[in-house]
Amino acid sequence: MLLFADTADTNLLAELAETGLIDGCTTNPTLIAKSGRNMFEVIKEICDLIDGPVSAEVAAVDAVTMIKEGEKLAKIATNVVIKVPLTLEGLKATKELSSQGLMTNVTLCFSVNQALLAAKAGATFVSPFVGRLDDQGADGMQLIHDIRTLYDNYDFDTDILAASLRTPAHVQQAALAGADCATLPAQTFKDMFKHPLTDKGLETFLADWAKTGQSIL
Ligand code: E4P
Repeated sequence: MLLFADTADTNLLAELAETGLIDGCTTNPTLIAKSGRNMFEVIKEICDLIDGPVSAEVAAVDAVTMIKEGEKLAKIATNVVIKVPLTLEGLKATKELSSQGLMTNVTLCFSVNQALLAAKAGATFVSPFVGRLDDQGADGMQLIHDIRTLYDNYDFDTDILAASLRTPAHVQQAALAGADCATLPAQTFKDMFKHPLTDKGLETFLADWAKTGQSIL
């Protein structure tokens, strides 16, 4: 499963990228607003840091303008993925952008039917929002399972990009549900490394090693 960083904070992204474990990046208008920076500069910087897919979201609501915005965003770098909302207009734009050979990420997906339409529009990625469904008392992770079944039933090429993940448990569940990729906040990525038994075990090993008086280097 590919792991994407869900951030427009380039300092944070540079820190995460040093692990060599970040395969891509997703942004949205909220994250760009939070960065307080120009979107084109931020996306360019992210594309310089990360070789994999970098999602940049359109801001228009009609297909014609979304296509123009998408074409402009795609010129920033070859790894830009045009992020489009899952609306009728958004899927018209997705179909056109995909037919031009551009990568697309259909975002704000909350149902199996929406995921079906995104795949039929030729989306490169679909982003089901797990956490926001959970917030409504629904089972967000079930949607990942269901879309996996749907896409496997019909051999759709669209990749499932599990989004709106808030905890390491979400990442683990999305991986087991067969999501192709997961996008996660920086803190969630850092938390994935942690286990109390790892800390405890390491503490014991270090103390015992010190008793030997040896040195490896
Ligand atoms: C990523 O593509 C999404 O925009 C993001 O994961 C949404 O996360 P949120 O629901 O925590 O805002």
